[in-house]
Amino acid sequence: MDKIVVEGGSRLAGEIKISGAKNAALPLLAAALLPSGASTFRNVPRLQDVATMGKLLRHLGCEVDAQPAKHLCRIEPPAKPPRGKSHYEAPYQLVKTMRASVLVLGPLVARYGHGRVSLPGGCAIGARPIDQHLKGLTAMGAKVTLEHGYVDVSCKRLKGASIVCDVPTVTGCENLMMAAALARGRTVIENAAREPEVEELALVLNKMGARISGAGTPIITIEGVDELQPIEHAIIPDRIEAGTFAVAAAITRGDVLLEGARPEHMDAIVAKLRAAGATVTAEAGGLRVRGPAEVLPVDITTQPHPGFPTDMQAQFMVLATMAKGQSVIKETIFENRYMHVPELGRMGADITVSGQVASVRGGKKLSGASVMATDLRASASLVLAGLVAGGKTEVLRVYHLDRGYEAIEKKLRGVGAKIKRVKA
Ligand code: EPU
Repeated sequence: MDKIVVEGGSRLAGEIKISGAKNAALPLLAAALLPSGASTFRNVPRLQDVATMGKLLRHLGCEVDAQPAKHLCRIEPPAKPPRGKSHYEAPYQLVKTMRASVLVLGPLVARYGHGRVSLPGGCAIGARPIDQHLKGLTAMGAKVTLEHGYVDVSCKRLKGASIVCDVPTVTGCENLMMAAALARGRTVIENAAREPEVEELALVLNKMGARISGAGTPIITIEGVDELQPIEHAIIPDRIEAGTFAVAAAITRGDVLLEGARPEHMDAIVAKLRAAGATVTAEAGGLRVRGPAEVLPVDITTQPHPGFPTDMQAQFMVLATMAKGQSVIKETIFENRYMHVPELGRMGADITVSGQVASVRGGKKLSGASVMATDLRASASLVLAGLVAGGKTEVLRVYHLDRGYEAIEKKLRGVGAKIKRVKA
């Protein structure tokens, strides 16, 4: 298996082009199931998760013309309802490698009247149930059954409903918006997720002819329509990739322009970078981050958007290890998202975890080691740790990084990091 080898100590300076957002691309590609005809997406990130979604859509009978090098993807869904179980089913083999496979459920039921998805089960970062997705679909009149590890959802035509989510869920909200777009009548989703990726999906569905308002607020209203048209669309830049490189600039006392980054999607991240002493300025081409001479401690509580994103928690923990003094980090979204802590400990970080709370006593230089993580953002944090550690760090299990960061080692090398991928 490949590994990433980092030699710590370089100051990062220059420009990094931010790729299209993984968590926007996945629902958008699933949404291509909704209209008749081919939709084309530009600025599609070259990632393993995107390839997995392409594989799933092919499995569902779509024609998928993916050109990863050009960041293009054209998807044409089958004109008629798919025949045979496998054609409306997201199989275990794919769902177990990518939970976001569940995003095809809403579109399948809305467009073809039937969808089956292997129940994702727990994963490295938490239990992650999909009860809110299913509660919403049931309220829209769908019959939901669970057998042999699969959820089977069917309904000739969904009807609008009033749905109050128990928790704001990103993919849950996306699934329900896609389902409601073709339902009969009005659907109102309350306590909706407000993430920029939810707004992006609403924008694209509206381009297709849907009638959605309120995305980006806690109440989303969808007036169902009878059919949707295919579209062409360029995907928004990835705020978490941008945030990860922002931390890289901050901890190396660097000066990096994150080309294309959208500051309006990153308020909470920018606020904490500034609290840690970094200088962050919005420029015409993106966001510039300059690292402080001395990193200050930062307290962080992860929250649904517009709060501080859980997907940046691990990276900020590395920043906290650099600060003289104590930072307190509280993870409220996922119950098991501290898998990077023992690995950072092996690099010399002084962190204790008690329940949801991690206390980081920073200020001691990290030392390079062989490390590995069990999820994407934890892996990214280990690469960041390698940038500031003394000596060599080897990050194993690189496939986690490849799921969500496009060419991370090339992008970091481009701004002066001593980093390489060693092929197995
Ligand atoms: N939840 C429920 N029931 C549900 C759905 C969610 O209880 O039916 C709970 C979850 O267990 C969690 C909370 O609600 O405690 C929020 O989870 P959410 O559903 O919002 O997460 P998700 O949609 O599965 C997306 C991103 C994640 C990101 C989270 C939180 C995609 C494809 N994935 O997941 O991204 O961490 O939102 O912002 O959009 C990543 O990119 O590394 C990643 C994990």
